Amino acid sequence: MNKLNIGLFGFGCVGSGLYEVLNKSNLLNATINKIVVKDPTKKRSLSPSAFSYNKHDILDDPEINLVVELIDDAEAAYDIVTTAMKNGKHVVSANKKLIAEHLEELIQLKEKYNVSFLYEAAVCGSIPVIRNLEEYYNNDSLDSIQGICNGTTNYILSRLDKEGKSFDEILKDAQEVGFAESDPTLDIDGFDSKFKLQILLLHAFGLITRPEEVLNLGIRNIKQSDIRFAQEKGYRIKLISFAKKIGEEVRAFVAPQFVRDDSFGYNVENEFNAVSIEGLFADRQLFTGKGAGSYPTASAVLSDVSALQFSYDYEYRKFKRNKLKWNDEYKIRVFVSTSEQESLQKIEFLTVEEEFISSHYSYRIGEIEIKQLNHQLYRENPELFISFFGEGILKDLQKQEEFVLAH
Ligand code: HSE
Repeated sequence: MNKLNIGLFGFGCVGSGLYEVLNKSNLLNATINKIVVKDPTKKRSLSPSAFSYNKHDILDDPEINLVVELIDDAEAAYDIVTTAMKNGKHVVSANKKLIAEHLEELIQLKEKYNVSFLYEAAVCGSIPVIRNLEEYYNNDSLDSIQGICNGTTNYILSRLDKEGKSFDEILKDAQEVGFAESDPTLDIDGFDSKFKLQILLLHAFGLITRPEEVLNLGIRNIKQSDIRFAQEKGYRIKLISFAKKIGEEVRAFVAPQFVRDDSFGYNVENEFNAVSIEGLFADRQLFTGKGAGSYPTASAVLSDVSALQFSYDYEYRKFKRNKLKWNDEYKIRVFVSTSEQESLQKIEFLTVEEEFISSHYSYRIGEIEIKQLNHQLYRENPELFISFFGEGILKDLQKQEEFVLAH
C-alpha cells in the first residue's frame, strides 16, 4: 500500500469537507501535509498557521507525492495540475471545467510523467460513475447515457416546482449552501452539465470533445408560467445531459426536457444527481446520489485518494473509438416560451401542435429541425426558454434512426 503525502489546494466547500472526511476515515496511509489557499484574509475553520499561500510550497516539495486540487479557478488549476504532473506527483482533481477543456493534453501528460490522474468528484459528486464506466463497462456494450449532472439547476428546478420563490432567490440559496459555481452562469446555462457530459463521453464512448462541439441549452430563462404549464400537463422540467450511440457515432448535448413521472429524472430532487446508463445487454441502470455539497463531493475525492493507495489509474480502454455526430437532418419536438411574443418568430417551426399568445407570456410546441438549436441562437435570444418536449430525445433519435435505416 502506498503512503500518500497530500498537498491540498483549496479549502472551500469541498477542500474543508475533504479535511474532515479524511480525518474521520480509516485511511491511515494518507495525510494532508500542506494546504495552499489564495486569500489570506478569509476566515476558515483552521488557524491561519495551517495554511500556506505559495503554490511552490506544495509543487516543489519532494515529500508530497499526491496533489489534490480543489479550487474553482480552472486557469489556476491548469497550472497547478500540469506542474504537479511534470514534477512527478499524482493528481486528484474535482475541476470539471479544467478537465473538459484540456482532456487530451492532461491524459498525454499523465502518461508522459507516469503519474495517476483521477477525478471522480468532477462528475455527479458522490456517484461513482467514472469508476463504473472504467471498470464495469470497459467493453463496447454501452448504448446511451442520460444524466442530471448539475445540483444547482436541479435544486432550482425542484424548488420552483414547489414554492413561490423567485429564480434569483433560490439561486442565492444554492450559492449560500455551496452548490453553485462562483460564476453561476456555468450552472444555469448548462456549461457545468456539459463539462461533466464531456468527461462521461470519454469514459463511456472513448470520445475526446471540445466544449464548443457539444450544445448546451440552460434554464436561465425559465419562468413560473413554464413550471405551471408543465405541472398542468403532468410534467416536470429537468436539465438533462444526453448521449446516444448509433453505430460508431454518438450524439451528445445538454438541454432542458419535459419529463413524465415514468421517465428518467422525474423523481430526482434538489441537489441530487442521477445517471441512467443503458447497455446492449445489461439494459437500463440508474445511479443516484448527491451531486453537490461539501461531504458528498469530498467522499468522491476520498475514494480517489483511497484508490491511489493501491496505484489505481484510469485505462481509457475505449479511447478514440467512436465519433461525435450532430445530425442536421433530425427533427425534434420542442417547447419554446418567451415574455416577448415576437421572439417566437426566431425559431422556424415545421409543425405547430399547440400555441399560446398573450402580451406577457407566449409559448409554442412543435417540431423543428435540430440544426436550429445552436449556441448562437441561445446567446442571441436571451428571452427564449427552449426545452425538449415529448417522449424524450433518446426515443426520438432512436425512432428517426430506425426510419433512416428502413428507407
Ligand atoms: N456547481 C456544481 C453543481 C457543483 O451544482 O452541480 C458540483 O459539481
